Amino acid sequence: MLRAIILCLILVTCSAYRLLAVFPFPGKSHMILGEGYVRLLLEANHDVTYLTPAPLKIDHPKLRQIDVSSTEKGFDFDGLFNFKKLINKEVDLSDTNHKYIVMQYVTESLLMHPNVQKLLLDTDQTFDAVIVEWMYSDLYSGFSTVFNCPFIWSSSLEPHPMILRLIDSLPNPAYFPDHTSSLEPPYTFLERVEQLWNIAKTLYNRWRLKEKEESIYENAFGPAVKKRNRVLPPYNEVKYNGSLILGNSHVSTGVAFSLPQNYKAISGYYIPKKIPQLPDKIKNIMDKAKNGVIYFSMGTMAKSKTLPEELKRNLVDMFGNLKQTVIWKFEEDLDGLPNNVHIVSWAPQQSILAHPNCVLFITHGGLLSTTEALHYGVPIIGIPVFADQFLNIKRATTKGFALEVDINYETPGNLKFAIDEILNNPKYRENIKQLSLVYHDRPVSPAAELVHWVEHVVKTKGALHLRSPALHVPFYQKLYLDLLAVILMMPLVLCKLLKYMKNKLFGVLKKKGKKTKKNQ
Ligand SMILES: *[C@@H]1O[C@H](CO)[C@@H](O)[C@H](O)[C@H]1NC(C)=O
Repeated sequence: MLRAIILCLILVTCSAYRLLAVFPFPGKSHMILGEGYVRLLLEANHDVTYLTPAPLKIDHPKLRQIDVSSTEKGFDFDGLFNFKKLINKEVDLSDTNHKYIVMQYVTESLLMHPNVQKLLLDTDQTFDAVIVEWMYSDLYSGFSTVFNCPFIWSSSLEPHPMILRLIDSLPNPAYFPDHTSSLEPPYTFLERVEQLWNIAKTLYNRWRLKEKEESIYENAFGPAVKKRNRVLPPYNEVKYNGSLILGNSHVSTGVAFSLPQNYKAISGYYIPKKIPQLPDKIKNIMDKAKNGVIYFSMGTMAKSKTLPEELKRNLVDMFGNLKQTVIWKFEEDLDGLPNNVHIVSWAPQQSILAHPNCVLFITHGGLLSTTEALHYGVPIIGIPVFADQFLNIKRATTKGFALEVDINYETPGNLKFAIDEILNNPKYRENIKQLSLVYHDRPVSPAAELVHWVEHVVKTKGALHLRSPALHVPFYQKLYLDLLAVILMMPLVLCKLLKYMKNKLFGVLKKKGKKTKKNQ
């Protein structure tokens, strides 16, 4: 009897939720972020269904994976993220409009993927909450409508207008830049105008995609909702119905913007408490490096092998003349490497940064890399290539723990200059140690926060108490344009009124005048 009661109590207090995590974008860093959710939610004893292009190689009784890997073929990653083409300006990845168009196309093919449709059309499937990554499209919000449960946005970027507008007012462009802008406030007059222009342009371009977006929404989710005997709610109501945004951001890497109550900054949640041991080969190299190790990685999207030959050689020569040891993550072998330069095709980045001999990180400046540099307190040299990398590096240089070098044929020389400066001037190291303290000094760990907020949303059935009233106030009301219209109309109305009264009065006088004339 007692045992039965205890068992019941345990079951009641450790209720497991059924959660769906949708991270279908086949970029490595996005998969790392998705994996973080899966790992933490499984550890918290929940049932997790993970929709991913790269199924995890783990067997867990509470994990089910939905494989959408075939969509990866639709991406021309090597064509797009190609250093040679970027340097020669053959591709322009700064065009956000293009990004929204491409991502709409990608999202459509993901949503219509047979495995996704199978999940949606299976009426036996139920979930307590859905976590969806925001990737230049609001369409994944539709999952929540099919499963009739609350949903949470996962954001891989620092807070930016196009995602915040889904849970609050559009932030003011006078001081809140979009994630593709590398301008930091305070702005000059012209910069402020430029920010306004940028956001207006983005909004206009997204408005042009609206019709197509709504038809994707209806095609992807309509049949599944109908099969569950419900009516598909309007897209506009669903996409603004997110319970939370969990952002891989933190004030230590970003700016102290005021954020809505349901934006939670949980930067670094995916970094495990215990980092994996370094492979013996790398460990040996690092242990022996008397003058410190410089770790060089341009991330996973753009492959280093697409670097022009001349640039590769000049980089190797420049590294060869340094007294530090260089570990370069590179996808191909180079011959004639100097003794102090080591090429690794795969690198456990966190474990390398955590090694006490690591003195510098040369990176493309993706948010995960900047976050990890901060986590382990290693100063950086950024060579930004696309997306938010320019902004991340700009912020890092403003905060004084980074230097920026452009990617072009002069990179090796400029890089040498930057390496000398950053290693010989102690201020970079001091700054990153200070910011690393800010980053780590939180009341609870970001991993615990992630689990807490996901559970909170389920427990409170969508955390309606955290939603901003600004969502339901139309733009013209926020700007008091209606009041402005009234004020502008006032003189006009007044004029008309005076004219009317004048005419009336004159009319009466004239009549009177005529009458008196007749009487004379
Ligand atoms: C919005 O979310 C709440 C809480 O999850 C839910 O009750 C409601 O049905 C949702 N509305 C729409 C239109 O999806």
